Amino acid sequence: MKKIIAFAGTNSKTSINKQLAIYASSLVEDVAVDVLDLNDFELPIYGIDLENEKGIPDNAKTFLEHIKSSDGIILSLAEHNGAYATVFKNIFDWMSRIDGKLWSEKPMLLMATSPGGRGGATVLEVAKGRFPFMGGNIVADFSFPSFFDNFSEGKITNEDLDKQLKEKVETFKVAL
Ligand SMILES: Cc1cc2nc3c(=O)[nH]c(=O)nc-3n(C[C@H](O)[C@H](O)[C@H](O)COP(=O)(O)O)c2cc1C
Repeated sequence: MKKIIAFAGTNSKTSINKQLAIYASSLVEDVAVDVLDLNDFELPIYGIDLENEKGIPDNAKTFLEHIKSSDGIILSLAEHNGAYATVFKNIFDWMSRIDGKLWSEKPMLLMATSPGGRGGATVLEVAKGRFPFMGGNIVADFSFPSFFDNFSEGKITNEDLDKQLKEKVETFKVAL
């Protein structure tokens, strides 16, 4: 059976992006889903001096192994000031020091959501512009707006948005 990982680019314990990533992963039939949480991969803030003195921390290596041993990735990015949340940028930077092509060409469903109407569209564009240079194989992307108006009890409540996501998930499934 194929295995996918699902995670959010945030360390919020009540993350809306994690909720969206879990919902999207529940729509992928006949795969094993490993839901990861960046809180379980705590890392010091990346710095070249720290790397030179102490090397690359195990949590960065372990997370990269999760990526490499998966058949696909569902990632939903939190948007902080139009960019990646710090915790995501940090693990991304650490992993890039091990392997510049860290996403390893694994099929990726890339998403973002926020409480606002733009649904994290800015960070989604940032990632879409960068990931392909780093082994990223984004087969579908989805910006989910106004999270609290459109999501409840683990599911998308807006029919049109739900249909859109299901189409993206289908594309992702076919690429696995
Ligand atoms: C420091 C900070 C900056 C933020 N900047 C943005 C932003 O640029 N655009 C946006 O849509 N939401 C922004 N937000 C709101 C986040 O989208 C919101 O906190 C969301 O819940 C983050 O996702 P998460 O729950 O998965 O962590 C910001 C929140 C914080 C704490």
